[in-house]
Amino acid sequence: MKPKIFVTRRLPEGAMRALEDNFAVECNPHDRVLTRQELLAGVAGKDGVLPLLTDRVDDELLDAAGPQLKIVANYAVGFNNIDVAACTRRKIPATNTPGVLTDTTADLAMALLLAVARRVVPADAYARAGKYQGWAPLLFVGADVHHKTLGLLGFGRIGYAMAKRAAGFDMKVIYHDVVRADPKLEQQVGARFVDKETLLRESDFVSVHVPLTPETKHIMAAPDFALMKPTAYVINTARGEVIHEEALVAALQAGQIAGAGLDVFEFEPQIHPGLLTMEKVVILPHIASGSIETRTKMGLIAADNLIAVLIKGQTPPPTCLNPEIYA
Ligand code: GLV
Ligand code: GLV
Repeated sequence: MKPKIFVTRRLPEGAMRALEDNFAVECNPHDRVLTRQELLAGVAGKDGVLPLLTDRVDDELLDAAGPQLKIVANYAVGFNNIDVAACTRRKIPATNTPGVLTDTTADLAMALLLAVARRVVPADAYARAGKYQGWAPLLFVGADVHHKTLGLLGFGRIGYAMAKRAAGFDMKVIYHDVVRADPKLEQQVGARFVDKETLLRESDFVSVHVPLTPETKHIMAAPDFALMKPTAYVINTARGEVIHEEALVAALQAGQIAGAGLDVFEFEPQIHPGLLTMEKVVILPHIASGSIETRTKMGLIAADNLIAVLIKGQTPPPTCLNPEIYA
């Protein structure tokens, strides 16, 4: 008998096939996020669970699944939705999908940066609305991107990939992180390590690339926006909670900063109403890893982890977040 797994939302076909070839798959039949009750009912009696970042995996869920549960394979690189310590206490491996979405996410961060600086979204809306009457010197003029300073808050895989893209735009790249990167990595992309205050003061674009942890929650708040140039922009493709959204809205409204490109929101899927009415904000519905190639690869990595634990008995699984359970 195939091991039983619960998949909390339908994934791209290539990923579903890999799962269905190996497992008895029960999948969310709806095209929406499951309610908590549906989620708890769905995981009951399963050997493996494949949750999304919208699904909280905690003691309650692990209890609801039952003692036969052997793996939680998150369909995301970020795993703030998973109580990894709760998994570790039960000796259940938790896994994520690192690597495959790095470039796709950096592509979108760059798209947000370009869009907000060059006013792509309101200009498109204007042209579609039939308002274009002819070329004009001041029509949707924005800010240059090339030769400007990009400040990366967080210099992990995605921050580094963003630095590579910025190099192609002749941008000056500075970064801050809790630990300084290998100087060789810095040299490859021409990135300079600075303290956070310098980063905020000097950057024309601040792009956030930290994981969400208790330490990074509200890493951008009122005092941080106050240090930024009034001509500078904030880009966030990390997690909404790293920015104090109310303070961001206040800073935008006060003209303390020039604009923002946001893929994630503090109270997702709710978006602060103050953001929705501002033309200097580009708002996307958390799609940074959303290419068909990458969303398929994310599913295949989750499948590899499930196969390793439930079929091959290979431990730790390839991208294990708590390998200490095997020590
Ligand atoms: C997406 O937000 C991810 O963490 O993979
Ligand atoms: C703009 O369209 C230009 O030709 O300068």
